[in-house]
Order: sequence, then structure tokens, then C-alpha cells
Amino acid sequence: MSINKTRLRGRSLLTLDELSVQDMTDLLDLAADLKARKRSGGRGDLLLRKNIALIFEKSSTRTRCAFTVAAADEGGQAEYLDVHDIHLGKKESIVDTARVLGRMFDGIAFRGFKQSTVETLARCAGVPVWNALTDDWHPTQVLADLLTLREQFGALQGLRMVYVGDGRNNMVNTLMIGCAMVGMHFVNCAPAMLAPDPALVERATELAVRNGGSLKVTTDPHDGVIGAHAIYTDVWVSMGEEAQFEERVRLLKPYRIDQAMVERTGNLESGRFIFLHCLPGFHNRDTEVTRTIGELEVTDEVFEAPYSKVFDQAENRMHTIKALMVATLT
Ligand code: CP
Ligand code: NVA
Repeated sequence: MSINKTRLRGRSLLTLDELSVQDMTDLLDLAADLKARKRSGGRGDLLLRKNIALIFEKSSTRTRCAFTVAAADEGGQAEYLDVHDIHLGKKESIVDTARVLGRMFDGIAFRGFKQSTVETLARCAGVPVWNALTDDWHPTQVLADLLTLREQFGALQGLRMVYVGDGRNNMVNTLMIGCAMVGMHFVNCAPAMLAPDPALVERATELAVRNGGSLKVTTDPHDGVIGAHAIYTDVWVSMGEEAQFEERVRLLKPYRIDQAMVERTGNLESGRFIFLHCLPGFHNRDTEVTRTIGELEVTDEVFEAPYSKVFDQAENRMHTIKALMVATLT
């Protein structure tokens, strides 16, 4: 009997809310099964002879490697296509590139700026297309985040996640939808100038309430974190926004995650608390960006604490992306 019980064959994944709640649960179950199998030394051939194109306009460590390793684990092969090396958008339209790649590859992952690019690829390629991050969304990351939460807490419904930082980037947009789908209580904690899009808040609130959860937006990093089972943050400056670096640091300094903030959750002693970050993260002076100014969105103390599950999240990128490819290609 097949390990893939999802109903996602032939589908693309451009945003999380294209999935039903059942699709999401099925994907997480499949990822957990594939992870257990890999941990016990098993490999499979679920993606045997499948060729995967990885088109990247922006840099990546985790996502690129997750697709590559996941494909190889199951007998498939991934080809990395840096946009600087291919014609996309310069000598050849997105539509034509999509039609060419769709004739050769079984699936296409795209990371880049515009959501409309991944939508065009999906419309024209004739094979599943997966959003590997755009300015608006990062769906494969949130699949890994939900798997990590499920591993730590068992059930997802009723958990409280507080996201602290830039309240309107691709990560928090996707978390608002993903957490709403599984009935979590979500708090978006950000300065007023970086508040989320009201239309998205409305959509995610409706989804959350329907599934037994809730959504709150606050500017208060003090009381906003009370009761959190997870505090989540992301970089203060997303890829493509580098010119805004100084303004972001000024706005977001009061939102840095430190041990005092973690203690205010009230959940540390019971052990029902984790820290999450999609990574890469600026938690020490070991990067070009932080060499002179030091920690940004999270202190090194929190990042390295036992309750920090950021590397479980990173590993889970691979298991969930593998599940997504297996679900949509087989
Ligand atoms: N979290 C994430 O998407 O990491 P990369 O940018 O390294 O792919
Ligand atoms: N918001 C970040 C996420 C990186 C995984 C960015 O877009 O750069």
C-alpha cells in the first residue's frame, strides 16, 4: 500500500490556503512517516526518475538543500537554476520558460520576488509548481513549522503562537494562515508601521475562528507574549528590502526576543514553551551583517537555549518538502 494518502496528485502549492485542512493534516502525516522511515535507515524510490527544477532568484541554504536532498533520498534528481544563468525574464518570457521546463521536468520549485511569477509558472508549465518563497508567502516553511510544533506538543489546536517582529512579511503572512487552518491562537506583535495587511488579518481571523482558534494583532511586546507556547521571529529585513535596514533596526529594537520576554510567557517552567525562527537568524556577531552591531531579532541566549527548536525546524524543511513532492508527483 502506498505511503501517500493525500489527494494532492498533480497539484501546485502557491499559497497555504489552497490546501484544505485535511490536505494539510495529510501532508504533515506523510512528512512524519517519511521522517521516521529515514531515521530508521530506510530510503525509498517514491520519486524515482522524477526530475525537479529549482529556479532561484533569491539566495537560499535550507530550501534549496531540502529540495535537493529530498529528491535524491527518493531516487529523483534536482537541477538548480540560478536566474542569472538562465534566460528567464531577460531573453525569454516566464510563460515560455514555464512551457519549456514543463516539457522536461516533473515539478518546478520557484523562489523569488513576485508572487505573480510563481503563478505564471504554475499556469503554464503543466506540471506541479511549488512556491519556495516569494515576497508574499513562504508556504513550505510553515509546513515545517507545524510539523515541529506537532512533534513538540502533540496536538496543534489550541496552542498559542506569538510572532514578534516585522508583522507584514512573507513569513508572518503564511504563519497567520497556517496557524488559523489548524485552529491555533495566533498573535501578530509588531510596531504599527509594520502592521499586517488588514484584508489578510480578516481572512485569517475568519479561518481561525472556523477552526477553533483566534487571531490578534498587537504592538505591545510586553503583554503580547503572555501565554505563548511558541514565540516565533524572523529577520527584520527580508531579502530585497536591504535599503531599509537602518529604519528597521530602529523600529524593531524593542521587539528583540530576549530571556525576559520568554519568561513573560509564563510557560517556561511547565516546559510547554519553544522558540522558533525560520532562519537564517542574526543572534550573534558571526555574520557580515551583525559583526559591528551584534544581535538583532533574537539574543544568543534565547537562540541557544534548550527550548529553542530552530534546528528541528530546519531539518523538518527537508521532510515536509519531500512529503510535498511525493504528494503532488505520485
Ligand atoms: N528558511 C529558509 O527559507 O531558509 P533559506 O533561505 O536558507 O532557504
Ligand atoms: N522573511 C525572510 C524569510 C527568509 C527565509 C526573507 O524573505 O528574507
